[in-house]
Amino acid sequence: MKETPIKSSIVSQKIDESGLKSVGKSSIREIKKLIDEIEDASGQKFIRMEMGIPGLPPAQAGVEGQIEALQRGVAAIYPDIMGIRPLKKEISNFVKLFMGIDVSPEGCIPTVGSMQGSFASFLLLSRLFNDRDTTLFIDPGFPVHKTQHEVLNLNYESFDVYKFRGAKLRGKLESYFKTGKIHSVLYSNPNNPSWICFTEEELQTIGELATQYNVVIMEDLAYFGMDFRQDYSKPGAPPYQPSVANYTDNYILFISSSKAFSYAGERIGMMVISDNLFNGQYENLNKFYTTDQFGYSMVFGTIYPLSSGTSHSAQYGLLNMLKAANKGTFNFVEYVKEYGEKARLMKKIFTDNGFRIVYDTDINQDIADGFYFTFSYPGFDADELLNKLIYYGISAISLLITGSERREGIRACTSLIQFDQMKDLEERLQQFAEDNPLT
Ligand SMILES: Cc1ncc(COP(=O)(O)O)c(C=O)c1O
Repeated sequence: MKETPIKSSIVSQKIDESGLKSVGKSSIREIKKLIDEIEDASGQKFIRMEMGIPGLPPAQAGVEGQIEALQRGVAAIYPDIMGIRPLKKEISNFVKLFMGIDVSPEGCIPTVGSMQGSFASFLLLSRLFNDRDTTLFIDPGFPVHKTQHEVLNLNYESFDVYKFRGAKLRGKLESYFKTGKIHSVLYSNPNNPSWICFTEEELQTIGELATQYNVVIMEDLAYFGMDFRQDYSKPGAPPYQPSVANYTDNYILFISSSKAFSYAGERIGMMVISDNLFNGQYENLNKFYTTDQFGYSMVFGTIYPLSSGTSHSAQYGLLNMLKAANKGTFNFVEYVKEYGEKARLMKKIFTDNGFRIVYDTDINQDIADGFYFTFSYPGFDADELLNKLIYYGISAISLLITGSERREGIRACTSLIQFDQMKDLEERLQQFAEDNPLT
């Protein structure tokens, strides 16, 4: 057998030194650190697919808006905890123009990344009802949301949606809702890690059941507009980013600016609370807050003590990006489309070399090409495969940490690979396939 693309003695030594019990079960940041060290020691570049970070420069309108605000001196002044007024209005315009939904500016709240929006929501939602104590995750999902539950000492349950697509979703969701302990549900759409996108029928099912059982739906739109099979880029014109908001008025949306606007570094996201929920009154909240009102408890009882609002200048950055998007002068979807093109090329290279796409369809159509895809290699479980691929200069994360039942699955992120690395990817996977022939 030929030496692997990355010298095996170096890889083995660094894995030993890392002290990681299993590369497959390690967190994204642990894998990143390990690969940084192997790259340093070997002098060779990996095809890095482990971290979901934007591979593009930040949206220029954001940078300009933020610099201008800093020069005006906003850094010295505390921002309003509920968000600066023009931004709240612009977020409300954004969801009207790109989703076709009506939400008052009041319920449109900038947060310290969408991460803070989910943290604050988990905290508040867990206190909504005296007799309900559990969040339901429609998995696979973003592992940090589970970590947030662990930090907050909150209960959650989850199921892998792979076998419950389409009509099967209703019965599965109801089986949880009927227990009477679920207060809310979270999923991402498009989904990190699998890139499945719910169909309108599935969103309708989720929305109808949310209303029927009075459960709050948290819809994580971290990859807003990025199902490139449709063109969601035209403000005020359909098709709109699909959403459960069309089927229930019991929702919170998390719209991250990290990927759609390549603005991860400034940690600013949007939490959009439906008018019905924002103005809703829940007796149990009186135990924890000065009021029973949901929106007030979110802003003054949750966001305030967490961080007293969000970076003032970043709010102006986001404001400027949204203005440009809403006016139609900044096509943010077009800007990130190259992720889809990379996914298309990468998936072909993987499948040409014996790999399989794990989450491969949205019921009756092929999965979209976007920010992530999932793959496996016959005969390997995820842990073994991930370990092995490191010797071939390819890094990714296992689906084991995402709530997936697909024990063989790996998540690949398309953002960091450069087009001129496709040849390397091809050669490395060809060698992998030669060294591990399919029987
Ligand atoms: C599904 C999902 N939700 C939330 C986030 C975090 O978003 P933000 O950077 O806005 O905190 C990510 C980031 O990778 C994500 O993939």
